[in-house]
Amino acid sequence: MDVEEIVAYVEKELSGIKEGDDPNPVKVRLLGRKGLFSRLFDNLKDLPPEKRKEIGRRLNLLKAETEKRIDRLQLLFEEEKRKKEEESLKIDKTLPGKVPIVGKKHPITTTFEEIIRIFTSLGFEVTEGPEIELDYYNFEALNIPKDHPARDMQDTFYVKDGVVLRTHTSPVQIRVMESRKPPIRIIAPGAVYRCDLDISHTPMFHQVEGLMVDRNVRFSDLKGVLTLFAREMFGDEVDVRFRPSYFPFTEPSAEMDIRCVICEGKGCRVCKETGWLEILGAGMVHPQVLRNVRYDPEEVSGFAFGMGVERIAMIKFGIDDIRQFYYNDIRFLSQF
Ligand code: DAH
Repeated sequence: MDVEEIVAYVEKELSGIKEGDDPNPVKVRLLGRKGLFSRLFDNLKDLPPEKRKEIGRRLNLLKAETEKRIDRLQLLFEEEKRKKEEESLKIDKTLPGKVPIVGKKHPITTTFEEIIRIFTSLGFEVTEGPEIELDYYNFEALNIPKDHPARDMQDTFYVKDGVVLRTHTSPVQIRVMESRKPPIRIIAPGAVYRCDLDISHTPMFHQVEGLMVDRNVRFSDLKGVLTLFAREMFGDEVDVRFRPSYFPFTEPSAEMDIRCVICEGKGCRVCKETGWLEILGAGMVHPQVLRNVRYDPEEVSGFAFGMGVERIAMIKFGIDDIRQFYYNDIRFLSQF
């Protein structure tokens, strides 16, 4: 057994490990249970006793030295590993952040808010009524007789005999007039229901009702208030016109159109080539309706109006299918 040769061999093994590399394979080869030193110590017994002691001493020294160097390399290796791990966890502050998705108001909500803003600025007060309504308020008190087409089973959702899902916000007029005396200046925003579904109808939609009752309220007041509303809503330049119409609860009745915002009156698909878009119904409160709430038509008069919020929003935002409002498709809703 040539100790010098062994020293040279061990030295070669140890210096073959780069600092920061894993020393374990070498450790196993040299210091492992079946490693170099263990075999050398096994072989000692074959040596003559006088040599055994000396060589044993030198092997022990060499082994201790080897252990020390391997321990040091082990520490360096672990330090290196830790550094690499840290590196991989490091936050890169130059990366763009994740932008949080911020919720937006539904276009029907913003349209509601705009309508309410305009009328409250004119002194109208916001009131509400129930969506499950008595037949009496939804129809009877509004001068809609029993055989009127608006009562057709096809349009009205009946809850039970004498109770319906309100088909319009007009019953709020009656409830307000029953509960207070003129002067009255209210709007009533809310959901209404009709059994209908196509490109321009959803079974639930929204209306804003308006009512003004006082002494000497005239048709010119109606025209003034609603023209101002249209200008606020669609811009100062918007043209309006009033067309004669019919509602059982107003006399005379009218519908208000605005000049088509798409084609500016030239005629297009949206305005069905007429150049005009209908935006609301209105009229002077029918004397019978006033009598129904125990007002004296000789003493007071009023005007009323009702508009569809979806319709206003469709015109304002250029949407051609009312159902879009209720698909809850974030790609649609996030555009507003
Ligand atoms: N209630 C009507 C509807 O749903 C709208 C309406 C028209 C309301 C004329 C009114 C009015 O107050 O005077 O179609």
